[in-house]
Formats: sequence, C-alpha cells, structure tokens
Amino acid sequence: MTVREALDALRHRLADRGDVEARSIAEWALARALGGRRSDLPRLAHRRLEAEASRRLADWAARLEAGEPLQYVLGDAEFFGRVFRCDARALIPRPETEELVAAVLAEAAPWRRSAPRVVDVGTGAGVIAVTLAIERPAARVTAIDRREAALGLARENARRHGVEDRIEWRLGDLLEGAAAASADLVVANLPYVPTGEIARLEGVVRDHEPVSALDGGPDGLGLIRRLIPQAARALAPGGALFLEVGERQGPDVSALLRAAGFEGVEIRRDLAGRERIARGVTWDRRGRRMTGRRLARRARPTHDGRISGRASSPSEPSTKPLSPPA
Ligand SMILES: C[S@@+](CC[C@H](N)C(=O)[O-])C[C@H]1O[C@@H](n2cnc3c(N)ncnc32)[C@H](O)[C@@H]1O
Repeated sequence: MTVREALDALRHRLADRGDVEARSIAEWALARALGGRRSDLPRLAHRRLEAEASRRLADWAARLEAGEPLQYVLGDAEFFGRVFRCDARALIPRPETEELVAAVLAEAAPWRRSAPRVVDVGTGAGVIAVTLAIERPAARVTAIDRREAALGLARENARRHGVEDRIEWRLGDLLEGAAAASADLVVANLPYVPTGEIARLEGVVRDHEPVSALDGGPDGLGLIRRLIPQAARALAPGGALFLEVGERQGPDVSALLRAAGFEGVEIRRDLAGRERIARGVTWDRRGRRMTGRRLARRARPTHDGRISGRASSPSEPSTKPLSPPA
C-alpha cells in the first residue's frame, strides 16, 4: 500500500464515523507513523508504506476509530510552543489555556518581585506550571492536583523540560492548608463544566478525557467558588489570581471575586471573542489599590504575547525531513 492509499483509507474510515477533522487527523497520524512531518506527505504520496509504519498506523487507526483523541493516540500535544506528553491521566491542553498563560506573563506587578511565588491549582499535565517555570526562571512554582496520576504526568513533563526540581509538587485539595500571604500569583484552570452538561459534550472529550478534569458541579462553579476565598487569603498584597472560566460564567465569577475582596476584576476575552479569563488583584504593599488602569499604566511588556504552535495538536517531530522516495 502506498502512502496516498493509506491516507485515503484512514481518512474514509474516520469520515465514516462522522469525524469532521478526518483529513487532518489522518495526515497527522500518517506523518507520525512515517516519522516525519505533515508537509512531507505530498512528495511521499507514491512511496510504499513499510511494515513497521504500517503496523504502527493500524494500531493508531483502531484507536482513532474507537473515538480516542489524536493527542492521546500519538502521546503528545504542543503548548506554548513546547511539546508535552499527553495521555488519559490528564486533560489535553487547550489553546485558551495558552492565552491564560500569556495573560499571567503579562501581569506586571507580581513579576517585579525577586523570586515570585506562583501556584498552579489543578495542574493536570503540568503545562501551566512548567511553562511559567521556564518563562520565568526566578519564579518559585508550586503545582497542585488532587489526583496522583495527574501529578505523575506533570512531573514527567517537568523532567522533560528540565524544571522538575524547580517546582514543588503537592497532592491536595485546591489551596487547602496554604499559609496566608504565601503566594504572589495563583493560576487555575479548574473543571468548570456543569455536571448536567457533561453528557452533551463531544464524545471524543466525554468518553476519553478524565471526568475529574471537567466536572465543576451543578453550576460548573463548585471548585472556583471554593478557590476564590482561599486565593484571597493565600495571596500576598499586590498579588493576582487568574482563572480560566466557561464562556457564560464571567458575570458570576466577577461577582465572586469582588465578594472575596479582589480589586481590578476583569473578565477578558480569548482570541475567539469569548469571555474566558478572569483576573483579580489584591492590595499592593503600600496599601494602595492595584486598579486595572494603574496596572496597565505601570505594565512593562514581559512577554511578546506570541502564541506559537497549534496548542491542541500533536507535535511535529524535531527530526529532519524524511528522505525522498527511493
Ligand atoms: C481542567 S483540568 C486542567 C489541567 C491543566 N491545568 C490544563 O490547563 O490543561 C483540571 C485539573 O484540576 C484537578 N482538580 C480537580 N479538582 C481539584 C481539587 N479539588 N484540587 C486540586 N485539583 C483539582 C483535576 O484533577 C485536573 O487535573
């Protein structure tokens, strides 16, 4: 069978089960089975698929046909321009979470400290904690998850990127037990899907990603509602809390932030125009309020805001391009 024939066969199998992304998924899988890049496929179209690549593809095709997400099948995903291991122990990183990280990096005040203390609550695969540790070498990062399996995956990712020892790993429930004024930044992408909506999620998400990473309780805000007052206490003056929220949760989360005493409360839109990032700040050291306008005036660009790569896609291997057909 040639590369072209294998591609068409997989594309048809996936399209037959209603996969709207059948073509691109087939291309990703085939390119990876060949050990190359998607851009190599056109010139390899008439090459014969070797036995090893064929075996690998058959295994992946069966899993994809069973509805498993491509990132779990191939075992990795790209986030903020880096490759992270990805499997059923944790949620697949999403593009809006890259925007959350970009917003955190652009928050000026907490990063002015000599060793800013950053806490990633609900770390999952560790993409937020690891990215912040890499982007801000002076930061002291803590990553918390209540699931040991997720923490294991996060540690693997930290090791892969050389920051495992820079992160404190904590198995726990939100910020339970955190000392007062012990953090400068708290970041969380917690489960926020209302329990009743889980059954209506796409099968590829509902049936394969951990429900513990999705289910936010009856109104989706169960965990966020508990975290906000904990964060208000754990943050030092001049600190900031950033949350990823569901697109209809902005007004409720704003109210929760204000009720807990946060200032400069903002609900920011993602690149798709949906209200997905909540931010609140605490009083600074001199007892002055860090309002949004003052922060904006004082802000220095600390990150170029560029969001690279296809976040939810698997990675392109860093191998050299495939050799031309024999
Ligand atoms: C939506 S996933 C986010 C994973 C990762 N931070 C990301 O952005 O891709 C939420 C994570 O929160 C964790 N989690 C759920 N409830 C928690 C709790 N009470 N305390 C700590 N972590 C919790 C889940 O195990 C899961 O890994």
